[in-house]
Amino acid sequence: MLQDDRQSLLLVSTSEGLPQIVYWGPPIAADEVEVIARATQRDVTGGMLDRNPDLSICPEESASFPGQPGLLARNPQGKPLRPRFRFTEDWFQGTSLSLTYRDEVLGLTYWSEFGLDSATGMVTARAYLEAEELTVVDWFAAPVFPVSEAGTEMIDFAGRWCGEMRTQRVPWSAGIRSREGRTGRTGHENLPLIYLPEAGATNTQGRAEAFHYGWSGGHRMVAEELPDGRRQVQFGHTFQSESAARRRFETATLFACRSDYGLNGCAVVFQRYLRDRVVPWPNPARPRPVHYNCWEAVYFGHSMERLGDIATRAADLGAERFVLDDGWFGRRDNDTSSLGDWWIDRRKWPDGLGPLITHVKKLGMTFGIWFEPEMVNPDSELYRNHRDWALGRTDQVLGRGQMVLDMGREEVRNYLFEAMSGILSEHDIEYVKWDHNRVLPQPDASQVRGTYALIDKLRAAHPEVEFESCASGGGRIDFGILGRMHRIWLSDSNDALERLRIQHEASLLLPLAVSGSHVGPRHSHTSGRVHDIRFRAWVAAQRHMGFEMDPAELTVKEAEVLRDAIAWWKENRDWMTKADILRLDSSDPALVAEAQVAHGGERFVVFAGQAAASSQILPRPLRLAGLEPGARYRVSLRNAADSLPNLSRGSPALKEGPLELSGQYLMGQGVCLPWSFPEHMWVLEGRRI
Ligand code: DGJ
Repeated sequence: MLQDDRQSLLLVSTSEGLPQIVYWGPPIAADEVEVIARATQRDVTGGMLDRNPDLSICPEESASFPGQPGLLARNPQGKPLRPRFRFTEDWFQGTSLSLTYRDEVLGLTYWSEFGLDSATGMVTARAYLEAEELTVVDWFAAPVFPVSEAGTEMIDFAGRWCGEMRTQRVPWSAGIRSREGRTGRTGHENLPLIYLPEAGATNTQGRAEAFHYGWSGGHRMVAEELPDGRRQVQFGHTFQSESAARRRFETATLFACRSDYGLNGCAVVFQRYLRDRVVPWPNPARPRPVHYNCWEAVYFGHSMERLGDIATRAADLGAERFVLDDGWFGRRDNDTSSLGDWWIDRRKWPDGLGPLITHVKKLGMTFGIWFEPEMVNPDSELYRNHRDWALGRTDQVLGRGQMVLDMGREEVRNYLFEAMSGILSEHDIEYVKWDHNRVLPQPDASQVRGTYALIDKLRAAHPEVEFESCASGGGRIDFGILGRMHRIWLSDSNDALERLRIQHEASLLLPLAVSGSHVGPRHSHTSGRVHDIRFRAWVAAQRHMGFEMDPAELTVKEAEVLRDAIAWWKENRDWMTKADILRLDSSDPALVAEAQVAHGGERFVVFAGQAAASSQILPRPLRLAGLEPGARYRVSLRNAADSLPNLSRGSPALKEGPLELSGQYLMGQGVCLPWSFPEHMWVLEGRRI
């Protein structure tokens, strides 16, 4: 049993076979273990076997398990291997557990590792398989969890370019709900995350379980209701993505958490665990710097004159890290050429990048640069010299005019390491935006291992450099990549309305610390919509803030608003970076709202985004979350002065100034916000008094 003050995870084996998780919930006493193990046994009736096959951590076909098995393997000639694992040894220390099993006849060893992180509440689980003979593995699930039978729906995630994080509520029913990413990367359309709320659970109340698979090569998820009523969730790499026969296999880590106070309980576990345990911060104490990124300002049109001027303006507005995006290398005048040619384009930068970097540093900013290492354009020196380094057929359909390099090959990784490490060594660069703009010709786990190896080598050589994971926006968001990187480019959409929604859903997995969000141009380049600078600025201020328009487009008034929001963000980022993001149960579907509550609970900020016009005339009271019922808070609207429209004609108290209210009132009754136009954000600050 794994146990701490918050929860117990009880694994029981009735014979010498693989164990099953028979209990996962609030702590149980040691002397209850035996009786609970017996109490969970179910009856036997007609129409089934004489014993209910175990829903073990790797359900076995050989045990007549009536659902998806945890392992589908065969020998290289195609003969299925149906192991029957028997206990070999266990190892148990504190909150870590490792269990080893063997099938002597087939020469297979299975072991799994479980961990329980008491500070955050996360359970981690990973499985390994070793074979004496070369073996082909089509499907290998991370340790399998039986899940609650008290829920009616599951929440999983779809999405697309500029429209990431689309939650879908799907009813449980007999059989399998399967999600599978076959694009070779995590994918906009297949976030490896599922929430399983029990009936009646909301953001703030009720029970829920949630699972995330930390792998960047595409995953397969099976949520199955068995004929006997039990339910299981399996996560693993995409089916058949291990293309070669091997002797050793391992799953990625499965991250599992549960909550007694709504979806937020799980969201907070993911947020904290990612920030405090997964991301390898070079310097955790360093405040997240305000980004300026030049992509939507200049695209491929680089010149010292233009970018020097932009850098001056960006610094004046409050930027702290200047990022030179795509377009600085090879002969990259558009997106059809030069990926792979990682040397500075002397036509655009006759004196190299030195003068720009010196200018940026003089302005008090640090310098970051864009790469898309795993890709190659057919129109590049690299491809002309090494056609065989590209994955897939030569007549394949290109994606954004490019092909994917075979990261499984050492010479490819060595080439990329030398090229990138050279640029990083020769310049004062402290951040890399690592992009990945096309899907793979086929899913391939060795591609991911190769990419991870390259990143790890670069990080070891340049430990002070921070990396951002971008894949046409949010195409590679998972704890596997975030075990190596420090920021996520959540979406290519800088449209504040779309971002409001994306950020809201993304907080089910991601904390502010890693979630990049930029104020885009007035006229959104990806949606065509025009949003007021106040809305754009406050939406970006919800997460790791930056901006990426040409600052010259800002009117004096717009620049003032942006400067003010950036200054506010800098004043608050230290505690917000460590805060929990709690989604609020808004009784108005037009209002997308969250509270960010400081680690010690002494302060909070609520972002209440009016995403559309409400159906009713007036705003409904908004209930807060995460406060102490007995404490009193002083709450005030940060942005009333410049946000009140003429059509807000009444006198809700918050319009007039701060209020002192109890946590119980704020969470039970809620606050009355002033009326606002759609596409507007209220920022409500609170302090415990
Ligand atoms: C896609 C990214 O998501 C953008 O932010 C930008 O970096 C472009 N690629 C550059 O090609």
